[in-house]
Amino acid sequence: MNADAGAAPIGAKANPIDFDHESAEYAARWTDQYRTIRESGCPIAWSGAHGGYFVPSRYNDIVAIAQDSQTFSSAKTFDAATGAVSGGVLIPAIPFPTAYPIETDRPVWDAYRSFINRRFAPKAAEARRDFARHHASRLLDQVIETGEIDFIADLTGPLPAIVTMDLMGLPLADWRDFAEPLHEIVYTPKESAEFPDVAARFQQMFDRCLVELRRYRELPPEDNLLSVFAHEPFEGRPLTDDEVLGYCNNILAGGVDTTTALTTNVLVYLWRNPDERQRLIGDPALLPTAREEFVRFFAPQHAVARNCTRDVEVGGVLIAAGDRIYMPWGAGNRDPEVFEQPDFIDMARFPNRHIGFGAGAHRCIGSFVARVMFEEMVKQVLSRMPNYRIDIDRAQRYRSIGTINGWMNMPATFAPGTRLSHDTLG
Ligand code: HEM
Repeated sequence: MNADAGAAPIGAKANPIDFDHESAEYAARWTDQYRTIRESGCPIAWSGAHGGYFVPSRYNDIVAIAQDSQTFSSAKTFDAATGAVSGGVLIPAIPFPTAYPIETDRPVWDAYRSFINRRFAPKAAEARRDFARHHASRLLDQVIETGEIDFIADLTGPLPAIVTMDLMGLPLADWRDFAEPLHEIVYTPKESAEFPDVAARFQQMFDRCLVELRRYRELPPEDNLLSVFAHEPFEGRPLTDDEVLGYCNNILAGGVDTTTALTTNVLVYLWRNPDERQRLIGDPALLPTAREEFVRFFAPQHAVARNCTRDVEVGGVLIAAGDRIYMPWGAGNRDPEVFEQPDFIDMARFPNRHIGFGAGAHRCIGSFVARVMFEEMVKQVLSRMPNYRIDIDRAQRYRSIGTINGWMNMPATFAPGTRLSHDTLG
């Protein structure tokens, strides 16, 4: 990737394509859209939507961009007084405080990421498995005698919210106050009339985080992230409120909606493919490779943005300082140069170099805990309601899937079973 190498840069900007990741057309046809870009003479396209952005479509270009965080910045500037915002990892940029660590660049990123790393390490994630299993089972108990479930309202929405809030030290009984604005913020197009109301509810969630942070400051240290933020010095000084809110923004948004989207898509797939469902029930040892394949195929976090800091050539296209880039992990995961039969789910696919958890420095810190939550939810559904039937005609996709490839609801029926406990959240 340098301006002197290879063929003369193609003027992608001179031939913009009709592409908007927040549109209904994208939600319905994204795989075709990326195939068309990939197979065109110019695999890094330019869209004029939302102020303009580049759209790479090949795995190698997306990974190369993700690995060069000096040239392709994630940093955001936000002026709370005026609401002016630029950069960051969302297109269009939204006027919220910088998210930590995702909207920082090296070397600042190293400090923010290493401050929280050990809380997300494989061992720490594994230590949450019993908690995740207990709550997945408790949530299914609430519907198991009825024969009816909305997978999102009853399981795949609450479980990741409860596990993430426990990790943060937020009050579990109030999970709805956090999960609902977090879902709304990703599926409401940012330039729609409803967005300001959604943003206001999102802000209330931050206000609540601050109340809890102040409470932890008055208490002895406890084993959760807000308590760490309240008590542990960051580079020899206390974290500011804005930095804590930046962490809350990133960890809650990262933790709550992504695993919901993954698990819901997988439950739909296993319902549509009863042989595959039986195969997974009969051979649970398949779950780890199947899980990675599902992350590849569905790319629950569909994309993030980067911001170019200098003129540079990528894949034969000149990207200029100041240009924005939409980074579709979902497109890279379907690149036939890297994955044989990319549009086919092979639950035994191995090796699987998918980029569903990202690539480069910002690769998902929550991937281990996401895997634990996903496995516990799927195992419980397959053992306690193995013949569930989804009512797909009543299910609704997110209006915009360009950030999270998710669903609003997922109604289903199953043969009623017996409760295992009467535990409640309190
Ligand atoms: C299936 C579930 C998940 C998927 C597909 C996913 C996907 C991703 C991706 C693609 C990135 C890279 C973003 C970038 O390059 O800018 C990322 C970063 C991140 N994710 Fe996840 N994520 C998932 C679950 C989680 C969970 C459960 C948490 C926390 C509890 C989490 C927290 C984060 C954070 C904090 C970052 C930023 C890391 C950094 O900037 O260093 N994610 N995630």
